[in-house]
Amino acid sequence: MQDLIDSALARIEAASTAEELETVRVEVLGRKGVLTQLSKDMGKLSPDERASRGKFINGAKQALEGAYEGRKSSFERAALAKRLDAEWVDLTVPAPGPRPGSLHPVTQIQWEIEDLFRTLGFTVLDGPEVETEYHNFDALNIPADHPARDMQDTFWLEGGHLLRTHTSPVQVRGMEKLGPPLRMIAPGRVFRNESVDASHEHTFYQLEGMMIDRNVSVGNLIYFMKTLLTAIFKRDVTVRLRPGFFPFVEPGFELDIRCLICGGDGCPVCKHSGWVELLPCGLVNPHVLRKSGIDPTEWNGFAFGLGLTRLVMMRYAIDDIRWLQSGDLRFLRQF
Ligand code: DAH
Repeated sequence: MQDLIDSALARIEAASTAEELETVRVEVLGRKGVLTQLSKDMGKLSPDERASRGKFINGAKQALEGAYEGRKSSFERAALAKRLDAEWVDLTVPAPGPRPGSLHPVTQIQWEIEDLFRTLGFTVLDGPEVETEYHNFDALNIPADHPARDMQDTFWLEGGHLLRTHTSPVQVRGMEKLGPPLRMIAPGRVFRNESVDASHEHTFYQLEGMMIDRNVSVGNLIYFMKTLLTAIFKRDVTVRLRPGFFPFVEPGFELDIRCLICGGDGCPVCKHSGWVELLPCGLVNPHVLRKSGIDPTEWNGFAFGLGLTRLVMMRYAIDDIRWLQSGDLRFLRQF
């Protein structure tokens, strides 16, 4: 009997994998195993023999189970050690860190132009996006019955307020607050009630500029506009100056640039004309000065309104304005 147990113990010790051990367990400790064999003829034994056989079987069972558990846990420890080795993580490696974002192309150009104008002695002003009808229209010589109002349909709010259609109301706020002499620019978001297409958005960006001093001339205006365009495009751009009507300037001009997307051949951005309106400008209308408390017999000046959104499209050859507010990271990651 002891031989049977010894050979069973030897088999348990000899199992070299967890699977092998399981096979041995079924054979040795299972229903057909040695212990069952040893208890088979119990019925034929005398009570004394039965008692000693029972004792032997219990002892053997404990020994076999102990050996089995010992072997099993050594396999488990080995498996765990192997896993820990394979799945080892080096906690001393520096973390990858936050993924850096980038500034929207409109912000980038806006900041560049702000820097340029600061070096020319201009103050950068901010104005409200929700404006009064007075600042957006009347103070700029666009009374309620003037047809120029139709060109800038907007979103009307309660109490005579509206979403500003241009940055020009900041001229008025600048004149009211700072008075002459004045050199200011005002970048910002503006709104129009437009149907959206490749070149129109209901929300876009402009940059307003104004200089008020004594004896300001069209020559001064052209000088500043040329300085601006050279700084922005860092290359020669073809420009043309046309007469343009804006109630708040007299004379007024449209400064167009040759389309940088198609080179002048015609594309959706330039509406197939080869030219893009970029910089309307002019000498400030005396009515506008007077309305804001500035004496037009002593002071005069120029003003301009730069289409910032359009400028970004020209600079980066973006052929659809809708990209700019899409929030699409595939687009934004390029800047
Ligand atoms: N505010 C005008 C617009 O949005 C643009 C403009 C034209 C601004 C002439 C000016 C200017 O300052 O002198 O259409």
